[in-house]
Amino acid sequence: MIAVPAKVAVLASGRGSNLAALLDAQARGELPVEFVLVGSDKASAGALRLAEAANIPTLALDPRSYPDRRAFDLDLFQRVAASGADWLVLAGFMRILDGEALRPWVGRIINIHPSLLPKYRGLHTHRRALEAGDREHGASVHFVTAELDGGPVIAQARLPIETGDDEQLLAQRLLPLEHRLLPAVLGLLVSGRLQWDGQAPRFDDRPLATPLRLGDDGLSP
Ligand code: GRF
Repeated sequence: MIAVPAKVAVLASGRGSNLAALLDAQARGELPVEFVLVGSDKASAGALRLAEAANIPTLALDPRSYPDRRAFDLDLFQRVAASGADWLVLAGFMRILDGEALRPWVGRIINIHPSLLPKYRGLHTHRRALEAGDREHGASVHFVTAELDGGPVIAQARLPIETGDDEQLLAQRLLPLEHRLLPAVLGLLVSGRLQWDGQAPRFDDRPLATPLRLGDDGLSP
């Protein structure tokens, strides 16, 4: 029997370097998925151009043409479902999502956020880590809930803050770690090793008590 690759949709609002990392991992044979849709709330998003170049169907919806956030999210998620996607990855999708629209996706939608959650939900995470005098920064991938950057954290990549780091440099040094972290988590998810039903996340059939950590050899407890 031929194994059917997992169908994945990606939502992104910006340049799409995390999307590019997912596409690269798939092209290298490290991620057994088929990308069925890349969607955005910004028609100008670089992520859409990357998807077009890779012959992945794209979707751009303008939130301003909907009466409210829920109407936008319900339409967006319905279209994502119609693409056949089983899994949904938020890769720089800069919107808070409606709980009702999210409900059918619990455990099947992840987000990457550039901080060591629960620290620094929301914007300007690099600046906030520097201003707080933190010695360590990082990125997290978490299951998505209606709470901004608030769902259970699955895995983190950590990075020491160095003398001379500024906001831009720190973001730049973190990005290559994000690009390893996101495909690694998606790989665990589509393989079934990682599961979340809205209660406690499980990894290899055990409760995931603390986030997995990205090391030289990938993710480990
Ligand atoms: C990344 O830093 C990601 O962690 C955050 O938004 C940024 C998106 O960058 N959620 P890109 O569009 O993937 O290059």
